[in-house]
Amino acid sequence: MDNQTAILEVDRVAKRFGGLVAVDSVSFDVRPGEILGIIGPNGAGKTTLFGLISGFIAPSSGDVRFDGVSIVGTPPHLLVRRGLVRSFQIVQTFADMTTLDVVATAALVRRPMNEAIDFAAHILARVGLSGKEQLTPKQLSLQDKKLLEVAKCVATEPRLILLDEVMAGLTLAETDAPLAVVRDLNAQGTTIVMIEHVMPVIMRAAHRMIVLNFGAKIAEGTPQEMLSNRAVVEAYFGDHVDA
Ligand SMILES: Nc1ncnc2c1ncn2[C@@H]1O[C@H](COP(=O)(O)OP(=O)(O)OP(=O)(O)O)[C@@H](O)[C@H]1O
Ligand SMILES: [Mg+2]
Repeated sequence: MDNQTAILEVDRVAKRFGGLVAVDSVSFDVRPGEILGIIGPNGAGKTTLFGLISGFIAPSSGDVRFDGVSIVGTPPHLLVRRGLVRSFQIVQTFADMTTLDVVATAALVRRPMNEAIDFAAHILARVGLSGKEQLTPKQLSLQDKKLLEVAKCVATEPRLILLDEVMAGLTLAETDAPLAVVRDLNAQGTTIVMIEHVMPVIMRAAHRMIVLNFGAKIAEGTPQEMLSNRAVVEAYFGDHVDA
């Protein structure tokens, strides 16, 4: 492998949907222990990229390596067992399950049934959902649904977690709690790749960032470097500047 220290290597990955190139030969590494942020305008290919990494979408070309081993063609549930899990941008609801059961089901990936419930309660507390164990996901606010989505991922005890806009729709003040959860997870040793749309949020969270536009990676660097990158400013703030 190119980089001995990378936990994840995305190597010239592309995805075409008919004539549309949703992800266009994107390459980057994720280093163990980091928080890597991914930003880009609507339709830039961010969620598709997560689908390609997590086994939900087969790449048209290119390779994805986890721990130095190609994972192309490996189904999502096997990747979760190996320690790679993603959240979903559109929160899935489970009609009749309580939040505790939803998280306990995820915990079964690594824990026996007799431990899963207690462990799920612990995870719900850790993301700030204690007291809401017996609610159904439908009864949760958008913010809490997003925290539940994070809890489901955390319950699988991943080494690498892909978070897709878990703070979307929240005010900057409302992102304090989920941001603390992300930082806490990272401090416990979980490597994190997070997509966020809101620049100030990602700037506060990420150690390093990549920027996508029309499926292609147009920049990579520290949050500070992104702010002074002309291509990023044009892609990301272009329509605000024009308006
Ligand atoms: N299953 C699919 N079939 C056809 N086109 C798709 C499919 N999934 C995504 N696309 C298209 O691929 C492009 C990238 O979509 P994607 O959802 O990855 O973008 P995104 O960066 O996550 O956007 P957003 O910020 O709105 O979440 C878009 O043009 C989208 O319409
Ligand atoms: Mg998306």
